[in-house]
Amino acid sequence: MRRWMSEVKLESGSRPSPAANATSFHLQPALMLVVRQLTKSYPSGGRTLTVLRDVSFTIPDGAFVAIVGPSGSGKTTLLGLLAGLDTPTAGSVLLDGAELGALSEDARAKLRGEKVGFVFQSFQLIPTLTAAENIAVPLELRGVRNAGVRARSLLDRIGLADRADHLPAQLSGGEQQRVALARAFANAPRVLFADEPTGNLDSATGDRIIQLLEELNRESGTTIVLVTHDTALASRAKRIIRLSDGAVVDDRELAA
Ligand SMILES: Nc1ncnc2c1ncn2[C@@H]1O[C@H](COP(=O)(O)OP(=O)(O)OP(=O)(O)O)[C@@H](O)[C@H]1O
Ligand SMILES: [Mg+2]
Repeated sequence: MRRWMSEVKLESGSRPSPAANATSFHLQPALMLVVRQLTKSYPSGGRTLTVLRDVSFTIPDGAFVAIVGPSGSGKTTLLGLLAGLDTPTAGSVLLDGAELGALSEDARAKLRGEKVGFVFQSFQLIPTLTAAENIAVPLELRGVRNAGVRARSLLDRIGLADRADHLPAQLSGGEQQRVALARAFANAPRVLFADEPTGNLDSATGDRIIQLLEELNRESGTTIVLVTHDTALASRAKRIIRLSDGAVVDDRELAA
């Protein structure tokens, strides 16, 4: 299925339209995520605090989805579970056909390395590495050649070519955020999770990041799932899932 999708993409330069799909044997795009009755609870002072309850949805391969909701509604918790960074109290996540709950921690880490990019709300850059190294080192660990060149070209794309040799502490919050995004893009993930990717950016820089995300989605077919408070960013997604108090209260496609 994946192969078929990429072949069609190479020929047409874009994803097949629903009409093109209907004439083929493949009536539905593959599902990148299948989320079933996901619940996450924490023990809290002798009681149980449930921060996600019975969350279910599917996300097709190549989708561009925004998760929105008030502070504390469970967005970051949900993103961590979808990416296999955290384990649920109940329910399941199928990522590109793999049941995350059935995998060992090592197997989950391997799957993440192969298919997942993640941008944390708090960036999590390595403080002792420069901006370029923060991007290049994970690539080198995966055996990518010319990792340094690739890192610098990504920095150029996000407007930080002249900050390549700065340590994270020498970068502004917004600059660190852009480096974290470039690092997540760098290994061309099948699915990119981003927690508030424009949270620390002025509107012009935020707009550039949105364009990068859109390009990645359109040109590489990367599935994008982002959490945002930014209504400008949410409105550029093709679908919005709204959480309130740990539950999905709205899930709608946006008109193109
Ligand atoms: N490790 C933890 N132990 C106990 N409670 C937690 C833990 N992690 C998160 N929570 C609680 O779960 C709830 C949801 O947190 P989460 O970080 O998912 O919210 P959020 O929607 O991302 O909020 P924000 O928009 O402020 O980032 C919060 O009330 C938080 O206090
Ligand atoms: Mg959060």
